[in-house]
Amino acid sequence: MSDYLANLEPIAREAGALLMTYFDRHIKIEYKGDVDLVTAADRASEKLIVERLHARWPRHGIVGEEGTRTETGAEFRWYVDPLDGTTNFAHGYPIFCVSIALARRDDELQVGVLYDPTRNELFAAERGRGATLNGNPMHVSKTNTLTESILGTGFPSHKRHKNPNIHFYQQITLRSHGVRRAGSAALDLANVAAGRFDGFWEFNLNPWDTAAGVLIVQEAGGRVTRFDGSPFRLDSREVLATNGLIHDELIENFREIFAGRGLEPLPSPVEYARTRS
Ligand code: IPD
Ligand code: CA
Ligand code: CA
Repeated sequence: MSDYLANLEPIAREAGALLMTYFDRHIKIEYKGDVDLVTAADRASEKLIVERLHARWPRHGIVGEEGTRTETGAEFRWYVDPLDGTTNFAHGYPIFCVSIALARRDDELQVGVLYDPTRNELFAAERGRGATLNGNPMHVSKTNTLTESILGTGFPSHKRHKNPNIHFYQQITLRSHGVRRAGSAALDLANVAAGRFDGFWEFNLNPWDTAAGVLIVQEAGGRVTRFDGSPFRLDSREVLATNGLIHDELIENFREIFAGRGLEPLPSPVEYARTRS
């Protein structure tokens, strides 16, 4: 294990343990936007992670979701999501994680760690060295058709009424074994890497949501692009991650859905109520 991972894993575990001390305790919810939540746990976790990263790598930049912007002009920058899945967390639904990644020169991901304290699962990857789950090598699934796939997606809290993902959710649901909406983009990516999902997509993500998970998927043998197949960048916002085998088929499906082809009209609740026996 490299120096980076050896130092990073205990930090992610410590932050996860800290989150658990707040979990399921009727935590006070604050609002950053309409439905964009934040809690004391998000802030405490970010503080802890940033202190630890800064102590170990004082010259590196750090960008954290809850406001940390330590711009040192250095070649290396950390991306920290101290609690991915805040809405779940705030409601006592146990799907959330800590996400930490290091990028070099804006976009070259070097190391990524995701820790799910509810399942004690630590997903880790380092560029060129593969991906692991609790220290064991981890690989994407072998499913090679969309029809036989299970996938994940998510819906953003920001400008949610302007987001077209419900159409994609409907169409991909009809064309696969199903689509899950678990509420933590970082864990969705980890689940692609672990072969539990064959694919995942989402509109409107931030670098702290994706950085660690994207590297972990890539190192587990998967593929990550934008929806049209062009290269994923940390500022891309949209992400399509798969086991590689269903990637081109999904891109083709997305192209069709964006073009409005094959969209079947849904019955309205009124029509449904009228026809149900
Ligand atoms: C959110 C989660 C969610 C995704 C949202 C993200 P947060 O992150 O990853 O699954 O759908 O787009 O903002 O706010 O819980 O860190
Ligand atoms: Ca997040
Ligand atoms: Ca967060």
